[in-house]
Amino acid sequence: MTINTGAPVVVGVDGSDSALEAVRVAAREAEHRHRPLRVVHAFSWPLTAAELGPAPFPAQAEGLRGEAEQFVSQALAEARKVNPEVRASGVVVDGSATLVLLDESRDAALVVLGHRGLGGFADLLIGSVTVQVSARAECPVLVVHGEPRADGPVVVGVDGSELSTEAVGFAFEEASHRGTSLVAVHAWLNPVVLFPGDVSPLMVDLSTLAEEEERVLAESVAGHAERYPDVSVRHELVHGSPAQALVEQSRDAQLVVVGAHGRGALGGLLLGSVSHTVLHHAHSPLAIVRHVRTADGS
Ligand SMILES: Nc1ncnc2c1ncn2[C@@H]1O[C@H](COP(=O)(O)OP(=O)(O)OP(=O)(O)O)[C@@H](O)[C@H]1O
Ligand SMILES: [Mg+2]
Repeated sequence: MTINTGAPVVVGVDGSDSALEAVRVAAREAEHRHRPLRVVHAFSWPLTAAELGPAPFPAQAEGLRGEAEQFVSQALAEARKVNPEVRASGVVVDGSATLVLLDESRDAALVVLGHRGLGGFADLLIGSVTVQVSARAECPVLVVHGEPRADGPVVVGVDGSELSTEAVGFAFEEASHRGTSLVAVHAWLNPVVLFPGDVSPLMVDLSTLAEEEERVLAESVAGHAERYPDVSVRHELVHGSPAQALVEQSRDAQLVVVGAHGRGALGGLLLGSVSHTVLHHAHSPLAIVRHVRTADGS
């Protein structure tokens, strides 16, 4: 028997097609992770985007709230199409979408969002709610870009940092429950001149450096690989830009996984530059990993 206990998989919905794609992915994630699914719509008064206090025009407000509830029931119906057995609940929460979803992320195993919503700017790659929640959530965030492909590997970006090791663990789990392989990508760049007259980059032996980078990659993957003998892993060492390498790999991937920030994190930076670029340009769904909750919901 499957018991869906612990922290839920939360999906944010706003009535957009992109959010419904997120719902389908979230329903599958809830199933694989044996977690309940929680559908959340954040509701605010549209003219001011302020939280809804007493309504100035009660009849109109009723209509808007009815629409908000419909977003949730439509999402629940979509989740049941994916998995009729899914244990799902839905809520309309008063407040701004970003704040409501960040609050939800405190108790969630995973937050799933569409890359866009109902917002007006046609050429925007990623909506503002998704950008802000991805940067500040307290659990991993999965951003869905269109209908995801069911084949292809899971790809993970590795830089040797603690968070990238968490990302590798997350990626193994995903590859295992999706029954696919894992590609671990580590891209490295030539050392740079740090001050005028710094000649050390000229003295570095690139082949020694490549060996060192391969060691970083192998060590980041090794511990997790033992726990998932069912997942075949390919190491991809790239001499070039990490963001470009990951965006390239995302073309054939069913999921790309990155840490929220990496080795180069500047103090206070919530999303590293690689994660930020891949969030905007990935062709596949993207998981941005922070602290991963354990199965007991802690
Ligand atoms: N009111 C909301 N309640 C819950 N989730 C939301 C809400 N608004 C957006 N989301 C989630 O965020 C995703 C992206 O929407 P977002 O609002 O960021 O993009 P947009 O509407 O295209 O752009 P913007 O709002 O910045 O103009 C949606 O697919 C959905 O998952
Ligand atoms: Mg929006």
